[in-house]
Amino acid sequence: MNKSLFLQERFVAGVDTFIPGILYTYEIEPLKSLLTQVPLGLDILEVGPFCGRSTQIIAQVCGQSQIYSIDEWPEYLGNYRKDNGWIPDGGLRNLWGMRFRPSDVEHIFNREILKKYPNVRAIKGTFPNSMPEIESLGLFYTDNTLLEQESYLAGWDKLVSGGIWAGSRFYYKGTKLIDRIRKVAQRLNVSIICPPGTTLWYTVKP
Ligand SMILES: C[S@@+](CC[C@H](N)C(=O)[O-])C[C@H]1O[C@@H](n2cnc3c(N)ncnc32)[C@H](O)[C@@H]1O
Repeated sequence: MNKSLFLQERFVAGVDTFIPGILYTYEIEPLKSLLTQVPLGLDILEVGPFCGRSTQIIAQVCGQSQIYSIDEWPEYLGNYRKDNGWIPDGGLRNLWGMRFRPSDVEHIFNREILKKYPNVRAIKGTFPNSMPEIESLGLFYTDNTLLEQESYLAGWDKLVSGGIWAGSRFYYKGTKLIDRIRKVAQRLNVSIICPPGTTLWYTVKP
């Protein structure tokens, strides 16, 4: 493959599509535009960055924020044989169809995110138990299904007025993540917005 063509295609809007994840290329611009609404310079909490596909976008757009990314990074995440509910059939691959080994997930996050974005701090653990001491948040990004309803509230409570709670929706063992999110939102008396043509969802704290 022509080298310059290769480089052009690997990076879409400044985002490295070699980093595996669930965020599709066509969602990069909508996510970037949502992130421009995050109150400037406030701390950000991301639960479940996986390999960092979403993290790199947050780190680029919210360059003045400190980003805390919490993940358990269990080894099975890199093991395509084990069905953990959301890894696509046929294995864990990046958008280029490349597979990777068990244990690569945390390694990719360290190599592609921590080394390149000094405003990102990794916390290995389970949310909300391993939540760092943060006074207030401008963004709470939760891209996973494994949380109890109460767990979402731990991040929501820290959000400032005008702060954003967001994520992307996908299916987990037949359950629509968005249904769970909507239930929490109902308790909080806010409505969830799903920008058309993307899997993103968000709400702004009143
Ligand atoms: C669907 S992936 C996130 C994808 C990523 N945002 C992207 O753009 O590709 C979900 C991640 O959430 C993590 N996770 C789920 N529940 C968690 C919890 N309670 N605490 C920490 N990490 C969690 C999993 O280990 C996994 O890496």
